[in-house]
Amino acid sequence: MSESLTSRLSGFHKLSMVERHEKLSQMLGLDEMDLAQLQGISALQPGLANKMIENAVGTFSLPLGLGLNLQINGRDYLVPMAVEEPSVVAAVSFASKIVREAGGFTAEADEPIMLGQVQLTRYGDPTEATKRIVAAKEAILALANSFHPSMVKRGGGCKDIEVRVLPAPEGPRGEPLLVLHLIIDTQEAMGANLINTMAEGVAPLLEQLTGGKVFLRILSNLADRRLARATCRIPVELLADFDMPGESIAEGIYQASRFALADPYRAATHNKGIMNGIDSAAIAAGQDWRAIEAGAHAFACRDGQYRPLSTWHVDDGHLVGRIELPMALGMVGGPIKIHPGVQVAMKILRVESAREMSMVFAAVGLAQNFAAVRALGSVGIQKGHMAMHARCVAVTAGARGDWVEKIAELLVTAGHVKVEKAREIIESLSESDFRAATGTDG
Ligand code: MEV
Repeated sequence: MSESLTSRLSGFHKLSMVERHEKLSQMLGLDEMDLAQLQGISALQPGLANKMIENAVGTFSLPLGLGLNLQINGRDYLVPMAVEEPSVVAAVSFASKIVREAGGFTAEADEPIMLGQVQLTRYGDPTEATKRIVAAKEAILALANSFHPSMVKRGGGCKDIEVRVLPAPEGPRGEPLLVLHLIIDTQEAMGANLINTMAEGVAPLLEQLTGGKVFLRILSNLADRRLARATCRIPVELLADFDMPGESIAEGIYQASRFALADPYRAATHNKGIMNGIDSAAIAAGQDWRAIEAGAHAFACRDGQYRPLSTWHVDDGHLVGRIELPMALGMVGGPIKIHPGVQVAMKILRVESAREMSMVFAAVGLAQNFAAVRALGSVGIQKGHMAMHARCVAVTAGARGDWVEKIAELLVTAGHVKVEKAREIIESLSESDFRAATGTDG
C-alpha cells in the first residue's frame, strides 16, 4: 500500500473497465481475487447471503464507481461508491478536483461515543427515581461493561450515564418519561449490538433500584456525540465556468445555502444530495446506511426546524463550505469482514479507523453538495443529468457496448431523451449496425 497514492487519475473515465482494473492493480496491489470481485465473478455467494439474512432468495448488485480527486487533511483517497443514480460519482469527482486545487478538504471527527437508551415506567416520583439511579452509577457502569470486557480492555465501553425526565407526550396528567442514557465508547465498531446488549443487560438493575418497569432498551441513532465535519475554502476565481465569473457562481451557491437554511422543503432536497454521496460510499464500505440516514435527518432538525447539513458563504474572496453530521461507522461488525465486495472496497478506500472513514464520508457529502448547488445556482442540473440519463435510456431501449454512448449522444443532440426516440434510432440502423448495437450479432 503506497502512502503516496494519488486520487487525481486524469482520464480514468475514458479507460475501459479492464484498463481501470489494471490501473487499480498497479496502484493498490489488488490481486486476481480482488479483481474477480470487482467483475462480479465471485461477488457475494448465495450461500453467504443465506447466512446474512432470512428468506434469502439471491443477491442484488449495484454499479460500483470510484469517487476521484479527494484530498482530505493532505491525504488522497479513492472512494468506492455503490449507487444506481447517474451523475453521483461524476459530481463528487468533479467537485473534489476543484477543491483539491484550493488545497483540499479539512476534516475532523469526534470520539466514537454512542448512546444506549433504557425507558423506565411506573417508577413513582421522578426526582427520587433519578436520585437512586445516579447514586448507583458505578454499579450500572460495571454491570454494562461486564457484558463486553474485551471492549473495555481496548479502551472503550460504557463511560457514563445520564438520566432524563421528559414531559409526557399526552399532557400533564400522564407519567413523565424517565430515560436512562448509557454513554458508550464503541471504538472501531458502529456499536449497535454492543449498545443493545448493554442496554438490555442493565434493565433488571434499574427495575430493582426504582421498583419501576423497563420497556425499550435500544441504541439511539441520533449519534450527536459522534459528529464528523469537513470544510473547504475555494478562491472564487477557481469557480468560473459556463461563461460566468467565479463571483456569480459563488453568489448562486450562497443563495442555495440561504434557501436551504430558511426553508425545510429545500433543505430536504439539499440534504438528499449530500446523502447521495455519503450513502453510496457507506453501502460500498458495508456500513449501516439507514443508521447514517436516520442520524443525519434527526440532527438536521435539532433546533426544531429541519435545516441543511452543510452551509456556504463567501469570505474574503473565498467560497467557504462546511458540513457537520453524525457519522456512526464501523471497521468491524456487520458485513465488513465477510462480504467480499466490501473487503475490496476497503482495500481501495485505505482508511485505518472508523474516525478516518467518518472524515472521508463527510468530505464526500460536502463535495456532492458543492457539485449540486454549483449547478443549481447557475445553469441548472438538467443539462449535465441529461447526458448521463441518456445512457440509461439507450440501455433501456436495447443498446449495448459502445453503442450505448453513441445512441446517448444522438438522443442529447436531438434534444429528445426518451426510450421511444432511442428505439427509433436503433431501428433506423443498418442491419449489421443494428445487430452490433443490440448485442445480437454473436
Ligand atoms: C438529486 O439526486 C440531488 C439534488 O436534487 C440535490 C440538490 O438539489 O441539492 C440535485
